[in-house]
Amino acid sequence: MTHKYYIVGNWKMNQSLSEISTFFKDLGTLPDNKKYEAWIAPQAIHLSKVLENGIKAGAQNVSDNNTGAHTGEVSPSALIDLGAEFTLVGHSERRAIYKEDNDFINRKLRLSLEKGLKVILCCGESLEERENGMTESVVNRQIELGLQDVHEANRSDIIIAYEPVWAIGTGKTASPSQAEDVHQSIRTKLIELWNEEAAKEAAILYGGSVKPSNVAELLNQTNIDGALVGGASLKGADFRALCDAAEDQKE
Ligand code: PGA
Repeated sequence: MTHKYYIVGNWKMNQSLSEISTFFKDLGTLPDNKKYEAWIAPQAIHLSKVLENGIKAGAQNVSDNNTGAHTGEVSPSALIDLGAEFTLVGHSERRAIYKEDNDFINRKLRLSLEKGLKVILCCGESLEERENGMTESVVNRQIELGLQDVHEANRSDIIIAYEPVWAIGTGKTASPSQAEDVHQSIRTKLIELWNEEAAKEAAILYGGSVKPSNVAELLNQTNIDGALVGGASLKGADFRALCDAAEDQKE
């Protein structure tokens, strides 16, 4: 629905410096005036290395504090200072492994926006929740609580990523129509929370086993504005294929 597609690589806790160099060699030069934004979220320690290669980069996680005695955390302002474009918040691995709840995620989101980062808010249901018919209610709650008290002026810096937990790293992708159904309900939720115009402008990305062979069909759905990609973003040639598929989409 937005004008531009987003292809966002989430490298998770992967890639060595030499693998990153190989990645950029294999990626080649992306065209100017492209129809998509190509972003990478490496480990925070590798942000400068990615930025050096002329690609927009962001963090996989961020602190809910901006400065001070928070050993081991990364502040939104430090990310801005380095030239980062965005941060993910609420990735399902952070929710599940590090027990991050919606309230904590909302604090990170608001602080990051306030400091000038774009934010990708991740949401998605578990297999059990899907099987119990709870997909929409779980996702709507994550969106509603995740976006609580966001200033109107910051809405355009928010991107939503729908990532069904059962599809992440499993090779099981949601079918384009399963994904589109949830994306449509997210759009409806955004209309309710914001307004029609802001909701239409918002990019809603799909994530969960996206790869070069299935990306075109996913991007072809009305409410899918891009992809958040883990495994298939690690190799430059695969990431390039994802980008090329976005370029080949009809407007
Ligand atoms: P995947 O991961 O593409 O490897 O399924 C997606 C994600 O976790 O963002």
